[in-house]
Amino acid sequence: MRLGVLTGGGDCPGLNAVIRGVVKTAIHKYHDEVIGFRDGFSGLIHNKTTKLDSEKVSGIMPRGGTILGSSNRDNPFAYSESEGGARVEKDVSDLVVQNFNSHNLDCLIVLGGDGTLDIAHRMSGKGMKVIGIPKTIDNDLFATDTTFGHDTAIGTVMDALDKIHTTAESHHRVMVVEVMGRDAGWIAIAAGIAGGGHIILIPEIPFDYEKVAQKIYERKANGKHFTVIVAAEGATPKGGGRVIKRIVENSFEKVRLGGIGETVASEIERITGLESRTTVLGHIQRGGSPSAFDRILATRYGAAAVYHAHNGDFDHMVALRTPEIVAIPLSQALHKMKKVPVDGSHVVTARRVGISFGD
Ligand code: F6P
Repeated sequence: MRLGVLTGGGDCPGLNAVIRGVVKTAIHKYHDEVIGFRDGFSGLIHNKTTKLDSEKVSGIMPRGGTILGSSNRDNPFAYSESEGGARVEKDVSDLVVQNFNSHNLDCLIVLGGDGTLDIAHRMSGKGMKVIGIPKTIDNDLFATDTTFGHDTAIGTVMDALDKIHTTAESHHRVMVVEVMGRDAGWIAIAAGIAGGGHIILIPEIPFDYEKVAQKIYERKANGKHFTVIVAAEGATPKGGGRVIKRIVENSFEKVRLGGIGETVASEIERITGLESRTTVLGHIQRGGSPSAFDRILATRYGAAAVYHAHNGDFDHMVALRTPEIVAIPLSQALHKMKKVPVDGSHVVTARRVGISFGD
């Protein structure tokens, strides 16, 4: 077979490990040829390719990011171009099919989140053979137990929380750590538990400032003069809305969240009179070398995608249904967000060990 590979959407640790898994399986097991498209769907629109062989993927397993580049814009069905000084949106999906065919490809393996995989599914409707691999640090894709990149992001936040603890304790402060995750609280709750957060604010459980303050007072009464709050970027106070940082036009997901950490710190300082500070971890959570878990999952996804290409399971996505890697139709996998269940094991466990959700 001749296989194409692209990485779309926000990057995350483990993308290179997947590319390596695809290329090694394709070459060693099936004697296939593989080419990579650069910068997500932009590579298919502008025919920017690179040959992927054993040498290209040698040593890339531990590297964060993606050797192919990525983009969360460049939607072929609404491609933004400048025309006579104005921005216009065009459907260039036929050009993408043309470019795909010009390389005599049998299948395109697309690594992406919901937005990128949605485009892959739509391209499949135009006759392109695609297989998806789910990626995102947010872990908010419904159809898979977990996405690669999430475990590494949790580790990064956990390390930050360990460091924040010591300075919080020294200064008797309230420290708010804002983490990513969009409208799902997976990073916040998992890292909050692993990193010993005292209060975790997640989008799934709207919080009350008075209840947050109450937990801080309780800790004080027990001789703990500092508090670490983990705030998911999508967390909202009861009756309030998300804090939006910016709108990115032409992006798969236009809304960028950010700022809830500072809002919480100011409000808590106002209510309690305790000195508060905010740390926004931001894109650090998307970087770094993938954890062992992510390297293994990424390799399993990459190898399985090539297997399913040879099996003819097109318009499918590989997914982890522990302990197996399965292929499920993209039509069943998309547009369903996996939120933290409010009565699930993570929340129950957190409450049992005394973590407050400010509710
Ligand atoms: O979906 C991954 C993610 O990192 C989110 O957690 C975050 O809200 C968003 O992407 C940030 O996007 P950008 O890189 O465009 O700022």
